[in-house]
Amino acid sequence: MKKLTITRPDDWHLHVRTGAILKTVMPHTARQFARAIIMPNLKPPVTTVAQALSYREEILQAVPVGLNFTPLMTLYLTGSTSASEISKAAECEHVQAFKLYPAGATTHSDAGISDIKAAYPLLAALEKHDMPLLIHGEVTDEACDIFDREQVFVDTTLTDISRNFPELRIVVEHVTTAEAVQFVQSAGARIAATITPQHLMFNRNALLAGGIRPHHYCLPIIKREHHRQALVAAATSGHPKFFLGTDSAPHPTSLKEAACGCAGCYSAHAALELYAEVFERADALDKLEGFASFHGADFYRLPRNLDAVTLVKTPWKVPGAYSEHSLSITPLKANEELAWQIQQ
Ligand code: DOR
Ligand code: ZN
Repeated sequence: MKKLTITRPDDWHLHVRTGAILKTVMPHTARQFARAIIMPNLKPPVTTVAQALSYREEILQAVPVGLNFTPLMTLYLTGSTSASEISKAAECEHVQAFKLYPAGATTHSDAGISDIKAAYPLLAALEKHDMPLLIHGEVTDEACDIFDREQVFVDTTLTDISRNFPELRIVVEHVTTAEAVQFVQSAGARIAATITPQHLMFNRNALLAGGIRPHHYCLPIIKREHHRQALVAAATSGHPKFFLGTDSAPHPTSLKEAACGCAGCYSAHAALELYAEVFERADALDKLEGFASFHGADFYRLPRNLDAVTLVKTPWKVPGAYSEHSLSITPLKANEELAWQIQQ
């Protein structure tokens, strides 16, 4: 196949930050996606509807003229989130969900939840308002091996949340293991998952291929090959529980290439192209549209997009860095060739 036209996709998990980073990354997302779920882990975190609405305005300012892009806002769940903020969020058309970060699990997660059981009354309020809960599914116990933290979270915390809140809609964000895939598959229709391009493309060897590779470092960390294969099988299965969420997480190159580099892969520059490569390799390009353009919208009960994008098989070289607004961001597959590109 040389050309593929699909309904315009959405990105159901995206970090765009603020200021210069936002200005650099927003055009990349807006040229391919109609909408994106915007993660709230700013510093300070987006915890109120008022903050989400002002962040939304800042994002819209960064969308290039002529492109239609709708940011779908989320609020950061903290120990001090109030029931009244949850009902306010449920009534706000621009806020779609709450995000749960276990405290300390990842970038800017220190305001997260340290005792998930103590937050159960908040989960009950989300369930009552039919507000989806987006979960970063990793335990934060330092004693737990970093490669096991998702699986342990599934076995302990997630299973318990699911049992206690049978009506709560949950997205298990950026699943990285066969166990998380299995959990989502066997749960009811109200539990879904996003899958990133890096977890579909790489196994953990890519972290240490000929030297340390900071641009492949994200959280949850990439896992063994059999997990990658389970993710590819889930993404390309056509199952409506699995949908596109890049977790594109830009950091300045200087903070990635450091003695203690930040977690996050930047993929918005070529998101759909990266997924297309994975789906083609799995001989499943016919499943890309469901994964990228239908399943997420259906889960969030939003209309599917009406316009289309066309991917053409014309190889191009990803730049070594995007250097604008006096900063530099190194993208996934920097200086490497990609097979597909979006026809402009
Ligand atoms: O690698 C990651 N980067 N994982 C996350 O959960 C957060 C993200 C970020 O915000 O940089
Ligand atoms: Zn994320």
